[in-house]
Amino acid sequence: MSNPVNSKKRGRINVVLNHKLNEKFGQNGSLFQTEEEKEEHDILTRFERKLEEYVGLEEVKRLVNEIYAWLFINKRREEQGLKASKQVLHMIFKGNPGTGKTTVARIIAEFLHEMGVLAKGHFMEVERADLVGEYIGHTAQKTREVLKKASGGVLFIDEAYSLARGGEKDFGKEAIDTLVKAMEDHQHDFVLILAGYSREMDYFLSLNPGLPSRFPIAIDFPNYTTDELMEMVRRMLSEREYVLTQEGEFHIKEHIRRIRQEQERTFSNGRYIRNIIEEGIRLQAVRLLKENAFDRDSLLTMKREDFKFHSSHVKVN
Ligand SMILES: Nc1ncnc2c1ncn2[C@@H]1O[C@H](COP(=O)(O)OP(=O)(O)OP(=O)(O)O)[C@@H](O)[C@H]1O
Ligand SMILES: [Mg+2]
Repeated sequence: MSNPVNSKKRGRINVVLNHKLNEKFGQNGSLFQTEEEKEEHDILTRFERKLEEYVGLEEVKRLVNEIYAWLFINKRREEQGLKASKQVLHMIFKGNPGTGKTTVARIIAEFLHEMGVLAKGHFMEVERADLVGEYIGHTAQKTREVLKKASGGVLFIDEAYSLARGGEKDFGKEAIDTLVKAMEDHQHDFVLILAGYSREMDYFLSLNPGLPSRFPIAIDFPNYTTDELMEMVRRMLSEREYVLTQEGEFHIKEHIRRIRQEQERTFSNGRYIRNIIEEGIRLQAVRLLKENAFDRDSLLTMKREDFKFHSSHVKVN
């Protein structure tokens, strides 16, 4: 990380903070273009590559760039005797099932650890039942225990709105209060990520006026488009060393298009794709056994008939 403050790089980093990435960045949205720069910023490069394995997720890629730039510049500021400010990094992830929220939270935990923001960088996923107890005082105790274990890492609360389920008298409220207190007292010891469906999360935040400002980073995980889902199909098959026939590709695309329309709100996006691919692999195996076809070409090829959506065991949501 030597001499970062030359005018060329300084210009780029300003661009990041101004959110005008796509105008100035290379086609892949990367902060650095030359091999030399990429090597110099190897942590960012590694995480960019990791995120490149996933389709879409542009907002996440941008956030990682921003955090990297900020921490990098902070180091340079410290070297010049300037203040290096801390920031609150608690986040809200809003989106439907299978849109990548848990996957991204795990990556962010690792990233923040490697950048020296989180001491341990472990990832702890909990839900209402892990935080809320059964009698007065039990909830605060349970939540505090979870917070203790999460210290130095990322605490990820899925379906966070369920904490507000029972209203004022419910113990969920006690869990929220305990979390908020920990966010005040141990502001920089852990990162709290609340996740859930957009609509429910918005409602939850509106019920707790003190909450939204404590989560300065909100990321939307939109439903993937048909093209993005097809890209996932291709990547998942290619990773597993399968090749899809063109007929098979049309067949899956048509199905996804229909399912997306019918089940817009509950459709489980990336998880659904993974499940249909895995079912397809099983059905191809059954077909090959029946056909007695074990040559390399047959083993590689996935056909239209390996995706029997009308009799599929895979749940859409
Ligand atoms: N952008 C993506 N590219 C490739 N695969 C993806 C992508 N997003 C999600 N997936 C796949 O979908 C699966 C589900 O993703 P993940 O568990 O992160 O979703 P989620 O938003 O946490 O879902 P839920 O709200 O149901 O917990 C992952 O195992 C991953 O394989
Ligand atoms: Mg999840």
